Amino acid sequence: MIPNGFRAPETLAAQAMGRVDAACGAITPPIHPSTTYERDADLGYSRGVCYSRADNPTSAAAADTLTALEGGTATLLFASGMAAANAAFLALAPGDHVLVPRVMYWGLRAWLLDFASRWGLVVEPVETADLAAVEAALRPGRTKLVWLESPANPMWSISDIAAVATLAHAAGARLAVDSTVATPVLTQPLRLGADLVMHSATKYLNGHSDVVAGTLTTARDDEYWDRIKLAQRQGGGVIGPFEAWLLQRGLRTLFPRVRWQSASAAILAEKLAAHPNVAAVLYPGLASFPGHDLAKRQMQGGFGGMLSIRVKGGAAAAIGVAARLKVWTRATSLGGVESLVEHRASIEGAGSPVPPDLLRLSVGLEAADDLWADLVEALG
Ligand SMILES: Cc1ncc(COP(=O)(O)O)c(C=O)c1O
Repeated sequence: MIPNGFRAPETLAAQAMGRVDAACGAITPPIHPSTTYERDADLGYSRGVCYSRADNPTSAAAADTLTALEGGTATLLFASGMAAANAAFLALAPGDHVLVPRVMYWGLRAWLLDFASRWGLVVEPVETADLAAVEAALRPGRTKLVWLESPANPMWSISDIAAVATLAHAAGARLAVDSTVATPVLTQPLRLGADLVMHSATKYLNGHSDVVAGTLTTARDDEYWDRIKLAQRQGGGVIGPFEAWLLQRGLRTLFPRVRWQSASAAILAEKLAAHPNVAAVLYPGLASFPGHDLAKRQMQGGFGGMLSIRVKGGAAAAIGVAARLKVWTRATSLGGVESLVEHRASIEGAGSPVPPDLLRLSVGLEAADDLWADLVEALG
């Protein structure tokens, strides 16, 4: 329940729903490490919790905050973003047809094309930024789920969530959105018509590179959501209490972090676009970016903290730039307080759609001037 006076999402996030511990007045929630809970004499659970693979009271602050920020009905917290995404697909049935983006987070793409396809899902990659391609690929009655990622890692292409929701629903399919990069600060997919929103909470939601977690938030409590809950309970991919506690703490600073990171990314994108050794800058906030107009409509208050550059001179030149950076850290992942750089093509390997001259930049909370000076030195 949203407390009285908590109207703005910034307020909800800052106080993680404004709850005060009833037992002692603590303004941050306790951590409940207990795996199990006392039964009533009649064998029931009148206090609502039974066993920590099914429910853990520590999760409530983060889950309820996210439900409110996304405008959903309920949220589940998972052991990782991958566990959350897996549950959304495993709640379908073998033989179901699913549309997924051609360029998306590579780990999930690999799982879909390997494990999920062997399990029986008919997985079809499609250019989801192209509405005509989505419409042509939908198989009415057979397509059960359309998966979007917007902006999509690591080229940051923007898909039209509202328009794809209309197309998917007309074909009898649901729409799920991996909104890890946009965060609820910049986009709320459920308010645009999506049925499910997923986050790798490892990234911006926690924001400090010290938790691996994932989330699913549903627009409604229906039989698909029941199957997702079952997939989590029986599959066991639940978040631990300490991670859930850290996640609620991270969520409290989500708005200022994402706004600062978006502002710095926008400054860097403009400067990089004018650098002689940069062949292209991929950032939805640049007027020259193909999805810019759509991003302006779909994202509020910024275009995110992620951008990629294509370095003149190909793969070797790009790897050389990353090697010379001192303030930016060469590391995988994104959305933390520290700025990270990664040569994605080397990580993704053969079959990756990512150009070999591309460096992915995750902008942190450092001074944009320091980040820019480091880039200038490394780019030469
Ligand atoms: C956009 C996106 N979705 C999902 C994932 C998977 O999340 P996790 O690493 O928390 O399993 C990632 C991880 O990098 C990601 O970037």
